[in-house]
Amino acid sequence: MKIVVTGGLGFIGSHTTVELQKKGFEVVIIDDLSNSTEKVLDGIVAITGKRPEFEKIDLKEKSKVEDFFKRHQDIAGVIHFAASKAVGESVEKPLLYYENNIGTLVYLLKELSKKQRASFIFSSSCTVYGQADKMPITEDAPVKAAESPYGNTKQIGEEIIQETCKVTPAINAIALRYFNPMGAHPSAEIGELPIGVPQNLVPFVTQTGAGIREQISVFGGDYPTEDGTCIRDYIHVVDLAKAHVVALERLLDGKNEENYEVFNVGTGKGSSVLEVIQSFERVSGKKLNYKIVGRRPGDIMTAYADTTKANEVLGWKAESSLDEAMKSAWLWEQRVRKESV
Ligand code: UD1
Repeated sequence: MKIVVTGGLGFIGSHTTVELQKKGFEVVIIDDLSNSTEKVLDGIVAITGKRPEFEKIDLKEKSKVEDFFKRHQDIAGVIHFAASKAVGESVEKPLLYYENNIGTLVYLLKELSKKQRASFIFSSSCTVYGQADKMPITEDAPVKAAESPYGNTKQIGEEIIQETCKVTPAINAIALRYFNPMGAHPSAEIGELPIGVPQNLVPFVTQTGAGIREQISVFGGDYPTEDGTCIRDYIHVVDLAKAHVVALERLLDGKNEENYEVFNVGTGKGSSVLEVIQSFERVSGKKLNYKIVGRRPGDIMTAYADTTKANEVLGWKAESSLDEAMKSAWLWEQRVRKESV
């Protein structure tokens, strides 16, 4: 069965491609290479022994999207990762984010709505909950006003899909609300490749451990949490990738109860920034140079998932511990570092 993975050369997209291929799906990757390289294909081949089809397409070019679907009539589903994801950049360039994340989604849904039947998986984010009132966060927690254009594109994206599904029964869609993805494939053949200074915690931790950064700033030590630092739900990217395959299979098998569904994808366990640093120190055997500084504007204090719905309805559960995920992130960091010197 042929599945399109947009953004398939990116961090989560490449890991999902691997898991799809392992299950026997035929994958066609669309990527504009704006935040990835074709070398990722070699990593996928090294793990699975199979090179996915790849087309360099910018999904903002509507005619190219139309042309792609004309040439691939046999596509059964789309997993849509291609999007911009830097919160700070989205505040500076909101239109870029709306065009990249919303315009492209509309073009894809237009093509899918021409088909007899199509399955669609959307990359959403726990950012839609903002600072939720209750922990752990269930899927029916209210969606709060977005803190950034990036967050807004995830909220609007979900709404666009929901409204489209209402009037287009041929489209079956699932939005997966990711908590904090981290780690890499245990083979260290693929992983996260942040360009420039990483904004996210784990790549900053591993780069500091590798000596690329001198010190990591811990943003805020005065939150009313046990150790004063923020709490997040860190999920191994391979577990997250597997959730996509399970969600897709649910749609392809027609097991979904409604034609638009939402699932949290996390571990259900919250870890503080200091616990993440301790995990790094445990798995690497290195001391990390860190300093507690002021809070980062826009950060929420605590977010971790109630994963009951995904566990029971999808039959999926995150399997890796924080240390296992950190070990894979560290292995990958050392490999990338070795190759770049
Ligand atoms: C961020 C985005 C979120 C997006 C996700 C994508 C914000 C407010 N949220 O999530 O919308 O979906 O990235 O991956 O930007 N931290 C440090 N030092 C650092 C970096 C991070 O202490 O150098 C702390 C942060 O304060 C936070 C935790 O580590 O408490 C995780 O941060 P990060 O990895 O950036 O993820 P989120 O902020 O949860």
